Order: sequence, then structure tokens, then C-alpha cells
Amino acid sequence: MPDNGAPVINYGLVGVYIADSKICKVDGTAGRLYYRGYSIDLLAKNSSYEEVCYLILYGHLPTNEELDSFKKKLIDARPLPDMVIDVIEEFAKKQDPMDTLRSAVSALSAYDNKMDDRTESANLDRGVNLISKMASIVATIGRYRRGGGYVQPDSSLSHAENLLYMMNGTKPSQKDAKLLDLMLILHAEHSSNASTFSTLVAGSTLADLYSAVTSGIAALKGPLHGGADEAALKMMKTIGDPDNTETYIDEALKGKNKIMGFGHRVYKTYDPRAMIIKNDLMSLQENESQEVKTLTAIALRAEKMMIDRLGKTHGIWPNIDFFAGPIYVSMGMSIEMFTPIFAASRIVGWCAHMIEYWKDNRIFRPLEYYSGPLDLQYVPVGERK
Ligand code: ACO
Repeated sequence: MPDNGAPVINYGLVGVYIADSKICKVDGTAGRLYYRGYSIDLLAKNSSYEEVCYLILYGHLPTNEELDSFKKKLIDARPLPDMVIDVIEEFAKKQDPMDTLRSAVSALSAYDNKMDDRTESANLDRGVNLISKMASIVATIGRYRRGGGYVQPDSSLSHAENLLYMMNGTKPSQKDAKLLDLMLILHAEHSSNASTFSTLVAGSTLADLYSAVTSGIAALKGPLHGGADEAALKMMKTIGDPDNTETYIDEALKGKNKIMGFGHRVYKTYDPRAMIIKNDLMSLQENESQEVKTLTAIALRAEKMMIDRLGKTHGIWPNIDFFAGPIYVSMGMSIEMFTPIFAASRIVGWCAHMIEYWKDNRIFRPLEYYSGPLDLQYVPVGERK
């Protein structure tokens, strides 16, 4: 305890464990990530977003029958209620897509005719519905922002393919669908990060799943969390020419500015997801546009400089958001849709954690040390100076 009698305050809850979980292990020292015991490298190489969702929600890899039935549930849940489409149409061009996403997801509770059923099985069904509809909502927000109208989902397409189809109105190339599927797998889950914690805080009051994940969406929006992918790409665009990279980073660091897409509360080494994205980006180069090539060149020079300056000494390495931007650009995705796509993936992590936490729920109620005055005299308004 400090000399003035104040308790030690864990700003940002650094070092505080909030739950015992079997969903995800982040090894920030070795730079390893596991979903339900499977390494992210294995899943990224062999799995699909649908299979990873099943794994995260139900705790084991599905059999063929289980996967088929899960995919069917996701496909059946894709169409959006008319009122939700109206919400998107009204707001899509007037506000940030993350704000529209928050409102549209919140509106989904109006279509849940079993709101009072809080059993685990009802919440798992709700989770599947949310995973499916979040993708349709994100796609539709992207579509309306570009001036298009609602595209009916196509049940012959995978989750990633259908998201791109509903967003663009045309069926995606195999390359784009595979890339999006990979990005969805990599963003699906990451233990008690800010948005998952926010979901848990809201849900720990026994508010419903829609309220809880709406809180998660709100937390994901900020540039210190999910919004970093957009911020990192904006920085690369501002740098413009690869030869400007070192000067830009140098000046930013001298000005005590953070370089978005670097640093992590848990990883003090290379984020394994960033490495997978970087490797994919490098393998794409040959057939890419000049824009993607330039962004990649800037990213690589920034990465080298940051690792030299802050990597080994300060543990500040690239995180998942750093190389994501050029990958999304290569898919023709608008910058403001990066974070909503992240949300459409992370929804499974939010739901799985919430359902797990409810098994042994306790309301979150940390303490605050009051350092203000006490017993002040009340002076009537007319007598105040
Ligand atoms: N660029 C430059 N310096 C940095 C960076 C960075 N990206 N990140 C941290 N630092 C420095 C801080 O300035 C601070 O330095 P100081 O001790 O001299 O004041 C020190 O490293 C510790 O940084 P904190 O912000 O206190 O670390 P914290 O663990 O609280 O925050 C965070 C982690 C938010 C991710 C931070 O590294 C950051 O802001 N990074 C940039 C934003 C970003 O990329 N966020 C995405 C994270 S991944 C995700 O959410 C999906």
C-alpha cells in the first residue's frame, strides 16, 4: 500500500484474473494462441470459420454430421428482418458502421420470441443466430454505404463467401473468400480482451445476450482495440511512399505517438496471428495491385524499424491489426468495414465466454479509491460565489 494509505490501483486491470476459462489460451511470452487447445496455426491452415465457431461454442471439433447441421442452422439464420434492414438503410450513410452495427444487433432482440428462456441451450441457439446475422448485418451495412440495396443471402455459399456476396452483390473469387475465411478464423477469439470483458460485465448483471454483445461491439470500436486495423492502414496511406516510412515513424515516436497495430497487453513477442497474416500477404504479392504492393512495402519497413527500436527492448511487436489492412485492401474492402468484419468474427468469442461465465456467474463490481473531499457544506445556489 502506498504511503498515503491509498490501495494499489490496477489501472486497466493489469495482471488481474477475472475468470477460469477453457476457451482460449494466449501465451504472450512464447507467442502462441490456442482455441480450445488447438493452436491457431493448425486451425488457420486446416479449418474453416464455421468449424472454428463450432469448436469455440461447443468445446470440440465437430463430426461431419455435427458440422453439416451447424452450417444449416447458420444458413437458415442469414436473412435479416425487414425492420433491421430499415435501421441499416436509415443509418448506414449517416454514421460510423460500428454505430450502425450496434443499433442493428440491438434491434435483433425484438425478433427473439423466447427472450425469457435463459437456459444454456437457448443461449447457444441465440449465439448461432447472432453469428449468422452479424455477418448479414455487416455485409448489408457495407452494401448500403456504397449505395446498393439488400442482397438476399445465397444458401449455396459458405459463411465467408456469403458475407462478401451480400456486401458486393457478386459472388467472390476463391482467393477473396479464402482470405476472408482466414481473417474470420484469426479474429474469432482472444480470451479476456477489452470487448469480451465488456460483454461479460454487461452479462454478469444477468442482462440478456443481445445486451451483452452490444456492449462488446461498443468496446471493440476504439482505436486501442478493434479500431487499430483501420488506424494502421490510415497511417500507411499517410506515409504514402515507402521511402517516407522511417522518417514518419521516427517523428511519431519522438512526439510520443503510438504506432497503431503494434503493442499488446499480453503478447510481449510477435503476435502469432500477425505472423500468419504477414505470411499470407507476402504470398499474394505477385498478382496484387500497385496499391497493395506499396502498402506492403511500407508495412515491412515500419515493422522492421519498430522491432529494431521497440521490439526486443520494450516488447512492442506487430499485433493482429497491423498487416490486416493491406489484406483487406487486396479484397477491395472499404477501410471503415475492417472493424465491423472483426466484430462479425469475434461474436463467437463473445457468446462463448458469456455462456461459460453464466455457469458460475458473479456480478462484476470492482472498487474505486475515493480521493476527493468529504463533508462539504451545502450552500444554496443563490449564495454561491
Ligand atoms: N507505439 C509506440 N509505443 C507504444 C505502443 C505503440 N503501438 N504501444 C505501447 N507503447 C508504449 C507506450 O507509449 C508506453 O510507453 P511508456 O511506458 O514510455 O509510457 C508503453 O509502451 C506501455 O504502453 P501501454 O499503452 O501502457 O500498454 P497497454 O498494455 O496498456 O496497452 C495497447 C496495450 C493498448 C495494445 C497498446 O500497445 C497500444 O495502444 N497499441 C496501439 C493500438 C493497437 O494496435 N491496438 C490493437 C491491440 S490488438 C487488439 O486489440 C485486437
